Amino acid sequence: MSKRLILNASEVLTCSGFGPKFGEDMMDIGRIEKGAVIIEDGLIKKVGVQKELLKDINIEDYEIIDAKGNTVMPGFVDSHTHFVFGGYRAEEFSWRLRGDNYMDIMKRGGGIVSSVKSTRESTLEELVARGAKRLDSMVKFGVTTVEGKSGYGLDLDTEIRQLEAMKILKERKDIDIATTFLGPHAVEKQYKGKEDEFIDYQINEVLPVVVEKGLAEFADIFCEDNVFNVEQSRRFLQAAKDAGMKLKIHADEIVQLGGAELAAELGATSADHLLQASDKGIEAMAEKGVISTLLPCTAFLLKEEYARGRYMIDNGCAVALATDLNPGSCFTNSIPLLISLSSLYMDMRIEEVITAITINGAAAVSRADSVGSIDEGKKADIIILDFPSYHFLPYHAGVNIVKTVIKSGEIVAQN
Ligand code: NIG
Ligand code: FE
Repeated sequence: MSKRLILNASEVLTCSGFGPKFGEDMMDIGRIEKGAVIIEDGLIKKVGVQKELLKDINIEDYEIIDAKGNTVMPGFVDSHTHFVFGGYRAEEFSWRLRGDNYMDIMKRGGGIVSSVKSTRESTLEELVARGAKRLDSMVKFGVTTVEGKSGYGLDLDTEIRQLEAMKILKERKDIDIATTFLGPHAVEKQYKGKEDEFIDYQINEVLPVVVEKGLAEFADIFCEDNVFNVEQSRRFLQAAKDAGMKLKIHADEIVQLGGAELAAELGATSADHLLQASDKGIEAMAEKGVISTLLPCTAFLLKEEYARGRYMIDNGCAVALATDLNPGSCFTNSIPLLISLSSLYMDMRIEEVITAITINGAAAVSRADSVGSIDEGKKADIIILDFPSYHFLPYHAGVNIVKTVIKSGEIVAQN
């Protein structure tokens, strides 16, 4: 049996909980001054004040991980990314700097469809290798669980290949991956005006194979003006739900279509983006317990208005924060950037930000029972910062202050 002790922390943030935290409960990060953590066989055995914990154990039995007077907290959960894709769209970013807008680029055949072309041209091995490199970077930022979506295939073969790449990457021991099937992510030229047919194709030809092979836990759709409308989104998501999948939705990102309301109606696990979500939609999500996953790095890089994070929390929502790493709108997996933008531009308190990238992120990938907090029985997914207080997270802006990353009790990164 492997036994480890994390000692000499200035503070341990437990972020304790086994489900999402709503509204004002997001302020509760369970701070224990001079705390310690006991780990046995990769799981958290006990957390508490060091002096108390040491009374009951024989310290010689343990391998010590010395936090050296710094903050200890749960590993981050990045609950919305598109990290498996072929090719890049760097030139599109420069077009946007020059004034072109994201949806216009998409309408003239660029955007997501351009990544679809490169992804179709990529072999399974290439997708795995590229994906692995991106995961390496996430781990260094302290991410111990990540969600990844398909959606750069659109056709059966490539959607399955993307999901299979993630299945192979799931064998890694340093990060857990939750997989999402996002077949209806964009409309190719031949389906323009025939979006209903494309939804039929996804429901009848692609979804059953994804389900049969057990390749995804969640289904997702890009519900947006000029992509898929609410009716098409409802039809696809209902079919996925009937097939036993949990639901996510890219909702109300550019235009207020009612995606938040749809997420509440269908009992989705989360609705994501939500820059334009209506008051009614926000209210419905809070009431139905749908997690609001906010992606401020995307708003930043597209120069859009930020989602109303403060308003959502004040109105009882459970907010999660994620990077949205993808090759188009948001090519970043930077946790420091995510922390800066959410605290400065969505008026979230740092405690709420921490909740949003730990326990609420875990809830957004239906893993609040096993990760996202330092609670007895959960995986020992823990990070140690290079500073003695969590207040350094927004304060040391744009800098990765994660020093040590522990996954299931093993040190997997040292910065
Ligand atoms: O979450 N909004 C839709 N999908 C992605 C962007 C995909 C892309 O531009 O490649 C998102 O931002
Ligand atoms: Fe996305």
